[in-house]
Amino acid sequence: MDSIVSLCKRRGFIFQSSEIYGGFGSTYDYGPVGVELKNNVKRAWWRAVVQERDDMVGLDSSILMHPEVWVASGHVAHFHDPLVDCRQCRRRFRVDTLADGSRKAFFNDQWLPIRDNRCPVCQEGQLTEPRQFNMMFKTFVGPVEEEAATAYLRPETAQGIFVNFKNVLDTMSCKLPFGIAQIGKAFRNEIVTGNFIFRTREFEQMEIEFFVPPGTDEEWHQRWIEDRLAWYTRYGIAPSHLRLREHEKQELAHYAKRCVDIEYEFPIGWSEIEGIANRTQYDLQQHARHSGQRLDYFDPYTEQHIVPYVIEPSSGVDRLVLAFLVEAYHEEEVRGRIRRVLRFHKDLAPYKVAVFPLLANRPELVALAKEIAAELRPRWMTVYDDTAAIGKLYRRQDELGTPYGITVDVETLTDHAVTVRDRDTMEQIRVPREKLVEVLRERLD
Ligand code: GAP
Repeated sequence: MDSIVSLCKRRGFIFQSSEIYGGFGSTYDYGPVGVELKNNVKRAWWRAVVQERDDMVGLDSSILMHPEVWVASGHVAHFHDPLVDCRQCRRRFRVDTLADGSRKAFFNDQWLPIRDNRCPVCQEGQLTEPRQFNMMFKTFVGPVEEEAATAYLRPETAQGIFVNFKNVLDTMSCKLPFGIAQIGKAFRNEIVTGNFIFRTREFEQMEIEFFVPPGTDEEWHQRWIEDRLAWYTRYGIAPSHLRLREHEKQELAHYAKRCVDIEYEFPIGWSEIEGIANRTQYDLQQHARHSGQRLDYFDPYTEQHIVPYVIEPSSGVDRLVLAFLVEAYHEEEVRGRIRRVLRFHKDLAPYKVAVFPLLANRPELVALAKEIAAELRPRWMTVYDDTAAIGKLYRRQDELGTPYGITVDVETLTDHAVTVRDRDTMEQIRVPREKLVEVLRERLD
């Protein structure tokens, strides 16, 4: 993990937020390279769940919503975590009481047993009594900071979908089963954050609410679990690094009938990247009750109004970015030196092509390399670089995960061919300049 964090900083993927002010607890900024990777992850998801399906549409709802939404959804009443503090080392933990009355504490994304009410980390201090702590961030709308003006930053994007169920149904002629997908920021005042971008207070979610006729929910749940697993392997995650974890009854969220997590084998151990829940009719019924609006579906065949069940595949963009970074990261020895390379799937790679002149002090080579980069740029994210010797330029692009490097050398001036280097095999082939786009298209599109 340390190597990845340091590469992310060194190469412009991810910076600590507000770094010049000493940082701000577990908040991160995506740099020029990271924003490309993150956008590509979102694009790959949207492509699979909206573009390639005939039963899904998209949405982009607002972060601030009517406060009653969070009463109806159960978040005001239930979105609590009990916390305890160690009186000695002052560490703060999220705690969970198990069925047999024993307790465990959440630390460093691991659950540790609590013995004799003693701190599970320093092993000395006594723990305070648990206090309930609501994880929603509060803010005030308008100039007066009072209870009546309280609004929440959404802790999940899902509710924006439920409250738009009727709008989408009325405007998009959707027939059951159908789903709505959304990508957006969510905020949780987590008691414990950490492990780089794995658990933060501001993060981005990619969520689907898939509405199905009652009675077909269990089958659809299973189909979505399989679909989502296949998406990860399609974008380069080894099946052996993925596993499913069934939620036990007592850990199910207040709305869920069944929930299965997709876990990835991070360097910190197996951890959740996506949860796929059967939310039953809970949310639509709750919002119907609280808003006084009908939130159901008229089935033209049976001529009945039905409240659909909801299957919800919900993933975190930042966690997926981290998983794809971990999966792509390789260190290997090449001629006695360590080569660090990010073997991203081509669709996820921040830059697809890098163009270099072999000699930066030869104006004809520089001009030609810049001309080639300009020609490729409208088709693929292309970077031009002449700030180091060629070996160093290749190593830099390996660390960015750029699939192809194009070098313009002295021979190019006479034979009108360039060298194309493959990131993974490091093989180099000579390609006539007029064939370059075609050769890259075969490999990148
Ligand atoms: N609407 C359902 C829901 O929000 P969740 O399991 O609480 O379910 C879904 O969150 C996903 O959002 C998680 O699998 C994870 O990828 C991401 N996520 C949740 N909390 C996060 C946090 N504090 N930091 C980063 N990602 C988070």
